[in-house]
Amino acid sequence: MNSAPRKAFVIGHPIRHSRSPLIHGTWLETLRIEGSYEAIDVQPEALPAFFDKLRDGHWAGGNVTIPHKEAVFALCDEVDPLAQKIGAANTLVRRPDSTVWGTNTDYIGFLNNLDQNAPGWSENLGSAIVLGAGGASRAILVALIERGIKTIHLLNRTRDKAEHLSKALGTQIVPGDLTDFSKLAPEAGLVVNTTSIGMHGTRFEKLDLTLLHKSALVTDIVYTPLLTPLLADASSLGLKTVDGLGMLLHQAVPGFEAWFGARPTVDAALRWRVEATL
Ligand SMILES: NC(=O)c1ccc[n+]([C@@H]2O[C@H](COP(=O)([O-])OP(=O)(O)OC[C@H]3O[C@@H](n4cnc5c(N)ncnc54)[C@H](OP(=O)(O)O)[C@@H]3O)[C@@H](O)[C@H]2O)c1
Repeated sequence: MNSAPRKAFVIGHPIRHSRSPLIHGTWLETLRIEGSYEAIDVQPEALPAFFDKLRDGHWAGGNVTIPHKEAVFALCDEVDPLAQKIGAANTLVRRPDSTVWGTNTDYIGFLNNLDQNAPGWSENLGSAIVLGAGGASRAILVALIERGIKTIHLLNRTRDKAEHLSKALGTQIVPGDLTDFSKLAPEAGLVVNTTSIGMHGTRFEKLDLTLLHKSALVTDIVYTPLLTPLLADASSLGLKTVDGLGMLLHQAVPGFEAWFGARPTVDAALRWRVEATL
């Protein structure tokens, strides 16, 4: 049996801002596992060569971030049905027969974050509003469908993309424009921001949160900054909010377990450690 320390990675381009090495490094330390996790900048054209090295057994597997989540999908030898449905993989596992298996853990990261920080959030929800129809939105839509949310209004600046996702994922997804928020807000029990608005001080124009019912939950998957203008506004109105850092932490759990053989926990100490770098 090969007892050499196991190695894992996160690939992206650029990759220097990734918090994944800190998350996995913390778990390796806490669980006293001899192993390593490195961030590797891989240009899109270098992905096939990277996969050859992965098949050769250089790493146990790793994470994939922007812009490779869709491209690795085609390079994997097998992807699980969930990644298939989402159309992107963010976690790779090199198997003993030298094949690469891919899955998508953004889905479970999103659900576990809400379950941990807003228990019971999906009960008697009414409808949900999802803002944004980009890459991350797909995993969240699949997660909301799986939780049985009957009506999901998908509002996007480019309406075509919302229509495309509705056709691809199911009739419970109703496409619309961002300006539809006002008419839909009173019935919505959940608002999820999956757009990149909120980063670098940007904010939504004309999103009237006062129209939401006081029991509505507002969550943002943007976590830089942790308190986005959307969450700050929702909080100041007394609405329940959940930030996006928990999703990032929870999505890392299945990969770590697959590569290093122990299931890590998302606890306050890990959160503080990562929060200190935001
Ligand atoms: N917490 C986590 O674990 C986690 C996981 C994944 C992603 N994220 C974060 O989620 C965000 C989105 O990621 P992604 O991969 O889905 O990105 P993406 O595929 O590039 O999609 C970006 C989305 O934002 C919208 N958008 C961008 N600028 C806008 C503007 N000025 N006005 C209106 N809409 C705008 C786009 O609308 P159009 O279609 O009209 O362009 C699209 O819907 C990023 O900030 C990322 O860091 C967080």
